[in-house]
Amino acid sequence: MPPTLIFFFVMSDTTNVLPTEFPILPQLTQRRSPRAYTSQPVSAETLQQLFTAAGSAASCFGEQPWRFIVGSQASSPEAYQKILGTLAEFNQAWVKKAPVLALSLAKTTFSHDGNPNSWGRHDVGQAVATLAIQAAELGVQVHQMAGFSAEAACAAFQVPAEYEVVSVFTIGYPGEVEALPEPLQQRELAPRTRKPLAEFMFEGGWPQPEEERYDQAPV
Ligand SMILES: Cc1cc2nc3c(=O)[nH]c(=O)nc-3n(C[C@H](O)[C@H](O)[C@H](O)COP(=O)(O)O)c2cc1C
Repeated sequence: MPPTLIFFFVMSDTTNVLPTEFPILPQLTQRRSPRAYTSQPVSAETLQQLFTAAGSAASCFGEQPWRFIVGSQASSPEAYQKILGTLAEFNQAWVKKAPVLALSLAKTTFSHDGNPNSWGRHDVGQAVATLAIQAAELGVQVHQMAGFSAEAACAAFQVPAEYEVVSVFTIGYPGEVEALPEPLQQRELAPRTRKPLAEFMFEGGWPQPEEERYDQAPV
């Protein structure tokens, strides 16, 4: 009997891909923050892959200060509801369709000496960014949110004093934009833009005012 070949096709999300000045990885241009999701659950294997990606990030002193509380509509609905309850109304309006919600937290002290870790939130951000890129590779999208109550999250999950809540994010398969209320549809389809490189990459030093720049001086 011939061996059975099983192919897994991963559909990448090609809605509203980010145009860039210079070519970059397709996972970076396809990553976006959708508000519309399908009802397709995110499997335990996919979640494991995503959080493994998060854990692969660099961190100050290799501290790995990131922690995540995950709530899945399918497998941990109580945690899902708790995270949902911390969100501001303007986020709750669209978030409910996302099959998974996660809370990111940072350990505020270094484990090796107990001193404050000023880079904890930076490293948590890196971990979430890495997760989001891995997600884009798998056809999954993530939408990070600051519109939530950190106090409510700490209370809901009895977060130990040494940790602070950083952000909430969705994980899910992007859905039809038409399923969203009209104003949100427009935001979802609005052209995606970024600052030109010249506005944030300063080779050689902080840019000088125009008149002081020798290369702009009249000859
Ligand atoms: C730390 C952080 C907080 C954010 N908070 C919210 C939020 O509360 N609600 C929301 O709809 N989007 C939120 N966003 C999403 C941004 O608006 C979005 O990333 C930005 O507009 C760029 O769009 P893109 O991710 O699709 O490229 C947040 C993003 C980040 C990184």
